[in-house]
Amino acid sequence: MTKIYAYSIRKDEEPYLKEWAAAHPEVDVDYTSDLLTPETAKQAAGADGVVVYQQLDYTPETLRVLADEGITKVSLRNVGVDNIDMATAKKLGFEITNVPVYSPNAIAEHAAIQTARILRQTKALDRKIASGDLRWAPTIGREVRDQTVGVIGTGHIGQVYMQIMEGFGAKVIAYDVFHDPKLEAAGYYVDSLDDIYAQSDVVSLHVPALKNTIKMINDSTLAKMKDDAVLVNVSRGALVDTDAVVRALDSGKLFGFVMDTYEDEVGVFNVDWRGKDFPDARLKDLIDRPNVLVTPHTAFYTTHAVRNMVVKAFDNNLALVNGEAPATPVKVEP
Ligand SMILES: NC(=O)c1ccc[n+]([C@@H]2O[C@H](COP(=O)([O-])OP(=O)(O)OC[C@H]3O[C@@H](n4cnc5c(N)ncnc54)[C@H](O)[C@@H]3O)[C@@H](O)[C@H]2O)c1
Repeated sequence: MTKIYAYSIRKDEEPYLKEWAAAHPEVDVDYTSDLLTPETAKQAAGADGVVVYQQLDYTPETLRVLADEGITKVSLRNVGVDNIDMATAKKLGFEITNVPVYSPNAIAEHAAIQTARILRQTKALDRKIASGDLRWAPTIGREVRDQTVGVIGTGHIGQVYMQIMEGFGAKVIAYDVFHDPKLEAAGYYVDSLDDIYAQSDVVSLHVPALKNTIKMINDSTLAKMKDDAVLVNVSRGALVDTDAVVRALDSGKLFGFVMDTYEDEVGVFNVDWRGKDFPDARLKDLIDRPNVLVTPHTAFYTTHAVRNMVVKAFDNNLALVNGEAPATPVKVEP
């Protein structure tokens, strides 16, 4: 009987794993909450493939132990593959899949909700109310329909964000190195990033972290933005020079900052720091600010997205195991 073994399964993933297993009685599905390490790799013994999601590196040693057990088919439940030692994976003949698109709406909705919250100053208002101050002023809101929203990156997530912001009545403009023909025909694209910075009240980032996008938001690009602009980053922490953003918040240049991803988030986000020393003073300062909305990379974290990550990864793994073409293979290239 075909067997698939899944690592680092969280409580919230279990129902979807069980749903998939029930729909595939021909497959023996087993799982653990443990991460995949050289030590735990042996737990998969007897399996034909493994399903994994972790920030931890897939080291040469981990891959070797798996391969020694005859397991070379690995399906990730997430997108990113930079923590896989591809040279070893290639040498050992690994076949790998990921889930590049699981729910653009999850991330776009989060960005839209947080954008609207910044504009209505809800964090400041909530704090005032909780302290017993029920006065209106000075916590006045800005309506979304009065904003020009500049979207950088019109891929899966950027496009859904554009639709939601338009639903609120915003004027939406966009920049991308690749022009989607539908959006092009509808006239959304401006010619340059400078046009986005000069015209937008809200600048929202939906591009991957690449050589030419890393730290694209810095002192010089922030200076090109309108006064009282709102910056939204639910994309990748590396896109933003956080110190420059802090300076722009301090000077009042930025009205607010939405931050779901942070350049130093690894090892800090998705950890319970209560009762422990908080490890990052800059992050603590951002969390405390009334006009900054920090979330610990939770934009993707919805029932819809988690279900898709589990189900699509298992579908991919079963295809690999059956010698069929998986829906979303990863190039195993160093
Ligand atoms: N916060 C979260 O939970 C979360 C979850 C999933 C994805 N993300 C991030 O969201 C981002 C967008 O994801 P997606 O699924 O929409 O990706 P996508 O590949 O569908 O779209 C990315 C777009 O960026 C464009 N692009 C690439 N380089 C560019 C550049 N230099 N200038 C302008 N545009 C450029 C591409 O042409 C493409 O249209 C990714 O960085 C991803 O890591 C965040």
